[in-house]
Amino acid sequence: MPEPMTEDDLPLSSTPPESPVNGNTIPASILVVDDEAGIRESLEVLLSLENYSVKTAAEGEEGLRLLDSATFDLVLLDLALPGQSGLDLLPQFKERQPDVPVIMITAYGTVENVVEAIRAGAENFVQKPWDNEKLLADIRSAVARRHAEEENLQLKRTLKQRYNFTNIVGKSESMLRVFDLVAQVAPSRSTVLIQGESGTGKEIIAKAIHANSPRKDKPFVPINTGAMPSELLESTLFGHVKGAFTSAVASKKGLFEVANGGTLFLDEIATMGLDTQAKILRVLQDKRFMHLGGIQEIQVDVRILAATNVDLRQAVREGRFREDLFYRLNVITVDLPPLRARREDIPLLAQHFLELYASENGLAPRKLSTDAMRALVDYDWPGNVRELENAIERGVVLSSGPIIGADLLPGHITGRSFQDALLEHNPNSSLFDILEVIERRIIIEKLERCNWNQTDAAEQFRIPLSTLNQKIKRLNIEIRKKGRE
Ligand SMILES: Nc1ncnc2c1ncn2[C@@H]1O[C@H](COP(=O)(O)OP(=O)(O)OP(=O)(O)O)[C@@H](O)[C@H]1O
Ligand SMILES: [Mg+2]
Repeated sequence: MPEPMTEDDLPLSSTPPESPVNGNTIPASILVVDDEAGIRESLEVLLSLENYSVKTAAEGEEGLRLLDSATFDLVLLDLALPGQSGLDLLPQFKERQPDVPVIMITAYGTVENVVEAIRAGAENFVQKPWDNEKLLADIRSAVARRHAEEENLQLKRTLKQRYNFTNIVGKSESMLRVFDLVAQVAPSRSTVLIQGESGTGKEIIAKAIHANSPRKDKPFVPINTGAMPSELLESTLFGHVKGAFTSAVASKKGLFEVANGGTLFLDEIATMGLDTQAKILRVLQDKRFMHLGGIQEIQVDVRILAATNVDLRQAVREGRFREDLFYRLNVITVDLPPLRARREDIPLLAQHFLELYASENGLAPRKLSTDAMRALVDYDWPGNVRELENAIERGVVLSSGPIIGADLLPGHITGRSFQDALLEHNPNSSLFDILEVIERRIIIEKLERCNWNQTDAAEQFRIPLSTLNQKIKRLNIEIRKKGRE
């Protein structure tokens, strides 16, 4: 016999936002499908008082007709309807309006029903008799999320149309200025210096400049100039002839030739040695260079983009960077603001990475609980967009259901310990349930560290492989290879 459903079996429910995350205040329209006239009427009164526009249907067919005739921001759907049940109707509703959040209403809920409905795409469950405040909070949060998703889609479309950016998002004033500048400078062959803290998106902006330039079909060649000793860097950039140095057993082309006709992206330029700086300056001035140990001049047509996460002017003042090269590179500067200075981009980026990692891992779309989203917006992000991306990827991997709660974010982001978060989210769960959540998480983290090699993980846990496999099955852990390097 399935256990009757309790409040604690519900998917992680979110606390009400005072206003939707993105400040959207468009009045939302709600469809109520319930066979009990009393329920329809009381919901209609409750929701109208909150300024929602409400339509009601007494059974599924009528609901389907209404969905055919108008767009809704949310559906409240009774599970036990005469004729087709709520569970039967859910996929048909989703087929008509795939993005509409559906909250199921039921007096006879079981855990199985919850699981099935959530799998079929329901947002949440509400039990009769409900608590008005909680229901309104759930509705507000679902509608806010729906508006945010719609806005994201709209923004992505605009960015794609206006700038031909496919994987860059942002809506803050400062990023919109960056996008305009990128669109403006992309078609020329001018050198661009991209400045910003680590993880702010310097490389992705460099790629966007290339992709929006007439050179887009030629190579984009990135090189991290800071990570190499001078001699290796020079032979990588300029190539060498056979015998130029002891290990030069054959001649080799340099990246300036590889990038011919395209773009060379000099990353972390501040740490490049002074000698190499002089050689680069020469290529920038003459568009010519020689292989190491060679005597022939080679002419190239390469556009240079450079990036730095330190203040190059300061490096010039300290004599670590050539002033003449600085002025050559600094023809146009794109300054990428740190993420904490453009918090309005955080929900948008979070949504972008949720979609990216769910699809990369073949998982159904995940959503952030209101608490989790708040924690993300409030955090200071010293590692900027990259740190946010990592946090979301981890949340997606660790989540076992459609909602990523604050407990799945790293503790230093939410400002509370994993244990606190667990206990807050599952106040009435049994110790065994809580231990399962912990066990599941520890196993996933170990597997991640072992690059999903189960034999290695079992060895490190000092348990037989078969025991680990049983646990993986019981805890419903999806085994996968890491998506991206
Ligand atoms: N505006 C954005 N929209 C979508 N993704 C972004 C955006 N900005 C950065 N990213 C993503 O964040 C990650 C870090 O970006 P990127 O590597 O371009 O930063 P960076 O400034 O070069 O960092 P570092 O200084 O550490 O090299 C990348 O995965 C990138 O795709
Ligand atoms: Mg970079």
